Amino acid sequence: MSELEDISAQINACEDCQLSRTRTCAVPGEGSETADVMFIGEAPGFREDQQGRPFIGPAGQLLEQLLGQIGMQRKDVYITNMVKCRPTDNRDPFPGEIQACGKYLDRQIELVRPKVIVTLGRHSLARFFPKETISKARGRARNVGDITVFPVYHPAAALRQQSLKGILEKDFERLPELLRKPPAPESQEQDEQQLSMF
Ligand code: URA
Repeated sequence: MSELEDISAQINACEDCQLSRTRTCAVPGEGSETADVMFIGEAPGFREDQQGRPFIGPAGQLLEQLLGQIGMQRKDVYITNMVKCRPTDNRDPFPGEIQACGKYLDRQIELVRPKVIVTLGRHSLARFFPKETISKARGRARNVGDITVFPVYHPAAALRQQSLKGILEKDFERLPELLRKPPAPESQEQDEQQLSMF
């Protein structure tokens, strides 16, 4: 068993927060263990909870379409979420739930060591840039330690609001270039504010 598989097994058995009591399946994450790109969403939805796989509902279909448009496939990337179990009624995860799950995400990042982390939506944005809003942060790639963090809108938001879809497509088009070359530091001020990865 690889270390990443071991983390998945720990997540499947985890009872560290109340979400474990209402889940059907935990959803640890999936994809290439050596992926250059890691996508971090918010939390599993209904279908993900049924099957134990991330992004397999409508938002996942859009994610796959966006990947396809830049010549990538699901199997090339690693996909996970801030919290690994579904919050009932698809409510936002509570801070305590995000915190309880944080140790698993930290380890997944350490093991996959992606070049680029794409945060999908505001909850995973807050993991790296807690004071920022998604509308201001999206599309601004920044270096956090030796990883490029690239915040974009959540695909589910683009399904609800058609005007965001074009923005999301344009942001995805920048991924191949970000993989080739990390962004230049934006300014002294931002460098000073920069968070470390862990
Ligand atoms: N939305 C998410 O944030 N994650 C999933 O896995 C599915 C939908």
